[in-house]
Amino acid sequence: MLCGLGAWLPPRIVPNSELADTLDTSDEWITSRTGVRTRHIADAGMATSDLAVQAGERALKSAGMSNVDAVVLATTTPDHPCPATAPTVSARLGLGTVAAFDVNAVCSGFLYGLMVGAGMIAAGDTSSVLLIGADTYSRILDPADRSTRVIFGDGAGAVVLRAGDPDEPGAIGPIDLGSDGDNNNLIAIAAGGSREPFHDGGDPYFRMRGKEVFRHAVVRMTQSAQTVLRRTEWPGGLPDLLVAHQANVRIVHAVADQLGLPREQCAIHLDRVGNTAAASLPLALADAVTTRRLTAGTRVLLASFGGGLTWGACAVRWPELSLT
Ligand code: UT7
Repeated sequence: MLCGLGAWLPPRIVPNSELADTLDTSDEWITSRTGVRTRHIADAGMATSDLAVQAGERALKSAGMSNVDAVVLATTTPDHPCPATAPTVSARLGLGTVAAFDVNAVCSGFLYGLMVGAGMIAAGDTSSVLLIGADTYSRILDPADRSTRVIFGDGAGAVVLRAGDPDEPGAIGPIDLGSDGDNNNLIAIAAGGSREPFHDGGDPYFRMRGKEVFRHAVVRMTQSAQTVLRRTEWPGGLPDLLVAHQANVRIVHAVADQLGLPREQCAIHLDRVGNTAAASLPLALADAVTTRRLTAGTRVLLASFGGGLTWGACAVRWPELSLT
């Protein structure tokens, strides 16, 4: 059961025009090819845990809870390669010595985390989970790479999951997840792992083969969404609202077109925040709640896609909850 939601964005807003000052790009290109107009960028010294704590605090408050049994953090930009960042976040939130670990499924991390959190609760020994999606991509982008700098932004979003009845609003599922490791090179940081340690001098920056990723994103999110929709048996076979990974407005609309869903039924948040990776879905959910597109009873379809390659989709009938 989803019973709390929180979001946090670093205060500094960077418009397209500011990027065009130092990169060979333009507001016109970025807006027309991606839909992004502004993004939030973390100040120097701010790390992923700082964003995650803010979002986590808000989600706990929204759920009216001060304790959970576990903390799951979806991120590709941990504070350090080792250890995981979730224990730091848990300690800073005052949650004690509960289980805490990171999930890395790149931009699909939040949906993977949702499956993990819901699965922990279904297994019976855990009754509540704080799931946070947080990323600080500004730290891993090549400052000279216009193809990635214009898309990504920093941010964090979180949900609280608790045990509940499968028929209650807020029940999670069905969920569909998938991966394709044969295409692991389409989104990657080459150096810094066991294959190519940093001290060997490899490329430390995040690289993405945008055009190919675009094609995979549309196909995989559509297939995953269709799988979930077949299992939900919602009236008309379609959701009230599609909250898809906020990578590019053209991708979101292409998925809606393939599903036969009117484009107006897509949540669009990327125009203001860009692609916030693992934070993308909870941030878009929070925006949809704030703008009243998402209210109690709304049938929401989540869909995500990211490096790995990884993807997924999940159905949720939205519960009554308030944002703080
Ligand atoms: O979150 C994980 C999943 N990620 C995604 O889903 C992202 C998927 N990919 C995309 O959103 C798009 O492919 C991009 C936004 C990355 C690129 O858009 P595109 O329409 O696929 O452009 P392109 O890569 O085909 O490039 C078209 C042209 C090229 O110039 P030439 O070769 O036609 O002369 C690029 O060099 O646009 C050029 N270009 C730019 N021009 C101005 C690429 N980036 C920029 C830029 N500003 N920022």
